[in-house]
Amino acid sequence: MMKPISIIIDCDPGIDDTIALLTAFVSPELDIRGITPVCGNQPLEKTVRNALQVCELGGRTDIPVYAGCFKPMIREPIYGQFHGKSGLGNTMLPEPVKKPEAQSAVDFLIAELSKAAEKQEPITLCCIGPMTNFAVALRIKPEIAAGVERIIMMGGAYRESGNRTMTAEFNMLADPHAAHIVFSSNIPIVALALDATHQVMLKPEHVDEFARVSGRISTTISELMMFWDRNDVRRYGSRGGPLHDPLVIVYLLAPHLFESEPARIFVEHESELCMGQTIADWYGKSNLEPNAQIVSKVNSQAVIELMLERLSRYAGNKGTL
Ligand code: BDR
Ligand code: CA
Repeated sequence: MMKPISIIIDCDPGIDDTIALLTAFVSPELDIRGITPVCGNQPLEKTVRNALQVCELGGRTDIPVYAGCFKPMIREPIYGQFHGKSGLGNTMLPEPVKKPEAQSAVDFLIAELSKAAEKQEPITLCCIGPMTNFAVALRIKPEIAAGVERIIMMGGAYRESGNRTMTAEFNMLADPHAAHIVFSSNIPIVALALDATHQVMLKPEHVDEFARVSGRISTTISELMMFWDRNDVRRYGSRGGPLHDPLVIVYLLAPHLFESEPARIFVEHESELCMGQTIADWYGKSNLEPNAQIVSKVNSQAVIELMLERLSRYAGNKGTL
């Protein structure tokens, strides 16, 4: 087998973050060096707790969890609207025994990425929440950029309109200044924006199918997936919920299921009306080199099948997983 891809998952669990984590946990192609929850869908205290609970649920208490920033860089926090009070819908998980590491997410990112730069073994950053942790780390030690292979991120909206405001996607609006710092770093980015994630709707029939095949934690996963249904046919063209964050993990596992276009990306972080809007320079108007591949087309059926196959690996594994 090929050497696993070393990744750090920067997240704000969150229902779709949870599905992304559970998909990654059973994928031997990935070596998860750490999980760095941030203030996002919920206040930091809850995203950390949820991350710890999800590690226990998925039998991956070996993965260290580092608590990140408790507020965005400049703006006041906004929280997610579709994840319920705890961030995990109606799902009640046991109080976690696992504790977060003493080191903060920012210190961990600096230490781990500095090491990676030194050894010339760069790490892939999977950003599925507001990007505050990494932006702060970059502000403290810009040299860590050399320790990043690339950033695979969920966030933004280019040809699509926003999901939190008319123009802004949630992760970008939650910390536009952090996104601005990351987009200005010249680290290669793969952007899975709403343009991509709205193509992949997790529909009630997928949830039913999943509930039939999966095992040990299937009830919990199905419950989370059911809560994710937006019931908004006018916006999405069908029932179900867009599979935002898991696409980042599936992209790493099967990049051939995605088509992308190069562009320079920018984020509005000054004007209130369009705060958090992401803008793509597709045609070189800015005279700057592209810094990203923006995913424009997704093989939705194959993505869902792959993800459900991964999640069904928990079936019958009553031991470690
Ligand atoms: C993003 O916002 C959050 O609510 C989700 O977890 C996802 O990362 C989608 O806009
Ligand atoms: Ca998220």
